Formats: sequence, C-alpha cells, structure tokens
Amino acid sequence: MTYQEFIQRVHLITGLDLESYKERQMERRIRQLLQRKQIDFKSFCEELICNEAAKDDFLKYLTINTSGFFRDEHIYAYLADKVIKDLLREHDRINIWSAGCSTGEEPYTLSMVLHEQGAGRYSKILATDIDSGVLEKAGKGCYQPRQLEKMAPGLKKKYFEYIDGSYYFRDRYKQIVNFRQLNLLKEFSKHVGPLQLILCRNVFIYFKTEVQEKLISSFSGLLPAGGYLVTGCTEMINQPRQFGLERKIPAVYRKMPATLASPSLS
Ligand SMILES: C[S@@+](CC[C@H](N)C(=O)[O-])C[C@H]1O[C@@H](n2cnc3c(N)ncnc32)[C@H](O)[C@@H]1O
Repeated sequence: MTYQEFIQRVHLITGLDLESYKERQMERRIRQLLQRKQIDFKSFCEELICNEAAKDDFLKYLTINTSGFFRDEHIYAYLADKVIKDLLREHDRINIWSAGCSTGEEPYTLSMVLHEQGAGRYSKILATDIDSGVLEKAGKGCYQPRQLEKMAPGLKKKYFEYIDGSYYFRDRYKQIVNFRQLNLLKEFSKHVGPLQLILCRNVFIYFKTEVQEKLISSFSGLLPAGGYLVTGCTEMINQPRQFGLERKIPAVYRKMPATLASPSLS
C-alpha cells in the first residue's frame, strides 16, 4: 500500500482528510510512527478498523495539541483594550468561537479577559476541536502548577481553585464556555451560530495553502462587518482584503463593510 492509498483509507476510517494537511510534514510524522510501531500501512489500517482506542490514539498523535494560557500576551491585551470594547459598543452580547481550542487554555483565557472587562455575563464562547481527548481534558479544566507559572497571582487566585496539587478553573467562569467536537475540514457554518469574534490560532498552519484560504474565507463569511478574526502569530494572512478583512495588528483582523472589500477568493 502506498502513502496516498493509506491516507485515502484513513479518511474513510477516521473521517480525517489528511490530504488537507501539509504533505511532507504529515508523511514524515506518520512514517516515524509506523517505524516505531514496526508495522506497515496495510496492517496499521487493519488495526485502526478493529481497535477504537488505536484510532483515537492515532488522531491524537496527528493533531498537535500544544497550548497555553495567555499565549502571545500582547494579543490578549489588544483583545481587552480594543476588540472587546469595540464589540460591546455595537452589540448587546459577544459570541466568540475558539476554533481548535485544544485542552481549554484559549477559551478559559478568553473567559478571564471578558470577566476582567466586566463583559463575562454578556458573552458566550463556543470552543471546538476535532480531538475528543483534548475536549474531555478541557471540560475538566484541571491544570498543573507549571502551566500557570507565568500567570499573575491575582488572576490565578480569582479564577482557579487549588485542590491536591492541581489548579481547577472555577465553575462560575466556566459557565460561558461550551465545548463541542467539530472538524474544521468539514462544512461547519450551520453549527456555529452568529459570531462577532473568531479565534483560530496555531491550527491552520498545518493545512495546505488552499485549505487555509478556504478556511479564512469561511471565517470571514461568518463575521458581520466590524467582527474580528484572530490567528496565531505565525499564521499571517498575506492579503487580508481578498477575504474582506483589514489587518489591525499582526494576527488580528477586522471584517470590513462589503462595499470596501476586494472580491473574495471563494
Ligand atoms: C496547536 S493546538 C492550538 C491550540 C490553541 N488554539 C492555541 O493556540 O493555544 C492545535 C489544535 O487544532 C486541532 N485541530 C487540528 N486539526 C483540526 C481539524 N481538522 N479540525 C478541528 N481542530 C483541529 C488540534 O486537535 C489541536 O488541539
């Protein structure tokens, strides 16, 4: 079985379309795994079909889950100082989507920022990921001390409860976050509702350029004029105007009114 045949089978078995990911990087990771397991493509497919746990482990292995609280602090400072204030001037409520939320650090950081701005009770955060394992961890909201090392002690105390050596994100601040499994490579617009702010950070860097562009175009399509899209700091959008977006600071984009936007790519 060739690598191409393998990824077609994986698509059928797991629903994950590996063709959308950067090929060389993905192939190298998969070949490394198979070498470690001393197994070939065909036998691995059989294992994935028969063994649900092997399927989950494989998905976990492919989707890189690194995250952190206040990742790129200046982005959250900009959200607090500018974006949330802007949105609250124009909307009664802020609906936010954290797309590719991993183990919850991103949506919980947003919850802290919103509550610090007095906007907690006017906001809802939909937090999605393809990986059910990370979503389970995110829902528990349990973190180790080293994961909160850089957080200001005041925030740590207010938003977390320390129990038996772990920090738990407090329920009252969790309430505005709704976790759900969602594959960004499948049609999702019907599942996310109206939104004013989308964060998709450190997720589409792994996708091929054409897939990235399609995704950015879909995100932009979901935002009203004046809504915001936040990417990871290494995921710059080269020509934001093509997607109807205006760059405010690197990695933060605002949806332009339709009359000002260049024709979209889609
Ligand atoms: C590196 S983490 C980023 C977490 C967080 N956004 C941050 O910046 O800290 C990337 C996440 O994207 C998720 N992911 C990868 N492919 C995906 C897909 N097709 N649909 C939804 N989520 C996906 C992974 O499971 C992983 O949790």
